[in-house]
This record gives sequence, C-alpha cells and structure tokens, in this order.
Amino acid sequence: MAEKRVLSGMRPTGPLHLGHLHGVLKNWLELQDRYRCFYFVADWHALTTEYENPRRIPGFSRELLLEWLSVGLDPEKCTLFVQSAVKEHAELYLLFGMIVPVPWLERNPTYKDMLQNLEHRDLSTYGFLGYPVLQAADILIYKAAKVPVGVDQLPHLELTREIARRFNYLYGKEVFPLPEPLLSPEAAKVPGIDGRKMSKSYGNAIFLNDSEEEVRQKVLSMVTDTRRPRRSDPGDPENRCVAFNLIKLYTPEERLREIVADCRAARLGCKDCKRELAERVIGALAPIWERRSRLEARRQLFEEILEEGNRRAREVARTTLEEVKEVLWGGRYF
Ligand code: TRP
Repeated sequence: MAEKRVLSGMRPTGPLHLGHLHGVLKNWLELQDRYRCFYFVADWHALTTEYENPRRIPGFSRELLLEWLSVGLDPEKCTLFVQSAVKEHAELYLLFGMIVPVPWLERNPTYKDMLQNLEHRDLSTYGFLGYPVLQAADILIYKAAKVPVGVDQLPHLELTREIARRFNYLYGKEVFPLPEPLLSPEAAKVPGIDGRKMSKSYGNAIFLNDSEEEVRQKVLSMVTDTRRPRRSDPGDPENRCVAFNLIKLYTPEERLREIVADCRAARLGCKDCKRELAERVIGALAPIWERRSRLEARRQLFEEILEEGNRRAREVARTTLEEVKEVLWGGRYF
C-alpha cells in the first residue's frame, strides 16, 4: 500500500442516506485499499452551526461511526476517529489563526453561500468565520496528499493550500505538502423519492438505517411517468420517470435494457417495476443492516475500535505538531 495519506471528514448532523452512500462512502471504501486513509467525525465543525443544540452532536457522532463501519469501512485498513478526541487539531488551528489574513476568510464563496442559506441562524461568529482554518488544520496535521470531497468544498481546499504555502514560506521549511482534492464522481448523484437531490431536509431520503418496510414503502411512493396514467400507455423511463434514476443505480445492465423496452412497450406496469426496485435496494442494504446489528450486539468491540482510531490519529497528529513547534520557535522550550 502506498504511504500517501488520504483524509476526509463528515459533520455529524444526522443520519446517512443513499446519497451519502453513493456520493461519498463508496469512494471512501475504494480508497481504503489504496492509501493510508484517515476518516473522521467533524464534531467541532458541527458545532459551528449547531452551537445552540450541542447535545445532539454526540449521539450523531457515534451513529456516524456505526454507519461507517456498517457500510464496510474497515478499522484494520483505515483510521476512523473523532475530531474532538484529537486536541492537536485545536492547537494547529490556533497557530494557523495567527497567520491567516481575515480577508481570505471573508471572500470564501462557501462562507458567503452559507451565511445566506442559513439565514435563520446567527452565524456571525468567530468560529464560523474560522471554519476553513480548522478544516485546514484537520487536513494538514496528517499531511494528507488527497482529500475526497464534493465540489462545494473546493474553496476550502484551495484555502488549505494557501495556508500551507504561507506557513511553509514564513518559517522557511516545507512542513506541509499541498493537498489535492479528489472529487466524488458526479454520476453518483442520487435523486430523492420526489426527484430532487436526496437530502434529509427535503424529506425525500432513504436512510441507511430505514427498516425493510420503510424502504419498500418509500420506493413504492416514487413518482413514475405522469403521462402514463394507464398501464396500457407506453412509458418514457429515461426522460419522465423519477424512479428510473434509482433503477439505473440498482439494476444490472441486461435487466435494465429489458425494463426500458418493456416500459416503452407498455408491457411492464409501474407498480411491478417499483416492487422489483424496492427488492433490489433492500438486497443492497441487507449486508449493511447485518453488519450493523452484529456491531450493535458487541458494544465493547465498537468502543475499542473508536479508542484505537483516536489513538492512531493522535500519534500522527502529535508528530506533525512537534515539527510545527520546531520550525516555529525552535522546539519545545519548557
Ligand atoms: N467541511 C466538510 C463538510 O462540510 C467537513 C470537513 C471538516 C472536512 N474538515 C474536513 C472534509 C477535512 C474534508 C477534510 O463536508
């Protein structure tokens, strides 16, 4: 395995759904076999927007880790940890705070977007402005070469590179490599049951921890071709059917061609077609549910995995921080 490090994080703000599975986690799973991966729960980052309801975060954090393990992230292959358990992130964040010009943060497009979109919350805080500085510390403390993220995170990645460059320049040593983004594949965009992007806040998501019955009922409620009121009318799956987007993700090539042909020829009804889809989605989620229940039955093992992940992350983070202090003021002086 290459020694190159990959790092990514997720904010613990609620349960994961199929959008996360296809857009993010499949990518993470693949990377764990090729790089030394660090995946962490960004609980301090969650606090930047959820500071009024912090009590919910610990539950979400543990749930997130449980879901990561359930989808197959393997603690033997990658390091899974919690940000707030590795205090070194906070120290590096503070040191970066000394060298980051405020205008770099104010002109960050993601920052400006979020201020507008989350208008109902007061985000005029120091912590929220500093969000990308903390993110830079998360990434650089592991000297990550690659950071799998979505397009919305690219400005943060660019800022991370600028901070790394500025630090290296100011203290005259290439302490931090410049990390590259690894964009999640666009093709993995998953529509929700109403056809809009799948999202918890739209109420259109199929969650990884939904029950079999919930999945079935959600899939059956998906909109199909509305210009096909009767079963004897020919359908247009590629252009007019919301369910078809999911069907494409879950159906093997050959069967998919049949479905398209049968829908167009009015040989296959929408109800039957969605029933088949529901069973395919359930089949794909079954191993995740199975792993999850095995883990839930072994709380002790779960705790040990978390402890071990935090310990491994701390070790790497501490080494980098020693080097940072070395270039900053010539090492520890007390
Ligand atoms: N900002 C990221 C998000 O909202 C979460 C995050 C925090 C992150 N620190 C990170 C992602 C470091 C990648 C690397 O999705």
